[in-house]
Amino acid sequence: MASVTCARRSYQTFFTRPRYRTVTSQAACTRQQTRWSSHAPSSPALLARGQKPVTIQTLQKMYADKSPITMLTAHNFPSALMAQEAGMDMVLVGDSLAMVSLGMPDTSEITLDEMIMSARAVSRAVNRSFTVGDLPMGSYEISPEQALASAIRMVKEGRMQSVKLEGGAEMAPQIKKITTAGISVCAHIGLTPQRQHALGGFRVQGNTPGKAMALYEDAKAVQDAGAFMLVLECVPPDVAEEVTNALVIPTIGIGAGNKTSGQVLVQIDMLGVRPPDSFMPKFVKRYGSVWDAGVAAIRQYKDEVIDRSYPTAPYVYKSDAKVTEAFKAALKGNESC
Ligand code: KIV
Repeated sequence: MASVTCARRSYQTFFTRPRYRTVTSQAACTRQQTRWSSHAPSSPALLARGQKPVTIQTLQKMYADKSPITMLTAHNFPSALMAQEAGMDMVLVGDSLAMVSLGMPDTSEITLDEMIMSARAVSRAVNRSFTVGDLPMGSYEISPEQALASAIRMVKEGRMQSVKLEGGAEMAPQIKKITTAGISVCAHIGLTPQRQHALGGFRVQGNTPGKAMALYEDAKAVQDAGAFMLVLECVPPDVAEEVTNALVIPTIGIGAGNKTSGQVLVQIDMLGVRPPDSFMPKFVKRYGSVWDAGVAAIRQYKDEVIDRSYPTAPYVYKSDAKVTEAFKAALKGNESC
């Protein structure tokens, strides 16, 4: 296909001389298959539906406008499709994957390879929401170099647009190293589930004046190290609000009240995918009952298999009477040999 060059009007309003871009055909140009640089992927489906991908700039603008940022976890292709379809600004491949999707007792067991496999699946589904991949325990604490190597894998192999890691001031060198290499980092303080045994379990954090001050100092340290966003988990709402007001980056709360810059929940929890008697943190609101709907549907399937009401038309292919007759005759002939 011949390569043609066409001018972009909006660029011309910003630059004194016209800028040009190269596309594969004039038709592609009018369909707005814009590739902003030779390294930018074209995403005609998104542009055709008029949905612009969420970028760091989108998130910064939402923060400046005080517009709440919505984030939800996804651990596989269909859950990522659902999160995006429902309009989530951000999709997090959280290491909650270990417990809620893989049945591990805590998040310390999951490996970077396992996180990357999940991230790859999510990235195949998401082309509008901004993606964040969790760095699991053991993949970043040892040194800034180790953290950068893991972050690069999460971006290169997991196809995530940013990474998240747990910890405050002590993780500043890691955050600095990763962001300096051009990878955006979301920090995570308050309750840090990877350290649950050291914390004595899943407990509220920052609930004394001294602990609230330590939380604030951690928040400032990760911000100063270059984090673009901060998850605040299991923190009293007033403390979360004060920390949020003291920062210049958005805070995403989970169990931290409604005064943070946005919210995140674990999809499997909020959809009610787990049995009703499963342990559920206080802050989880069940917005669905997928468990009930799923078990009822599977029971009906079982009943219909047993009474042979499934599969009948319209779930079967057409039989051809002539083919059947010929087949039967051939079988009979076979038997008499
Ligand atoms: O792992 C996870 O899903 C998370 C969220 C709960 C913030 O870190």
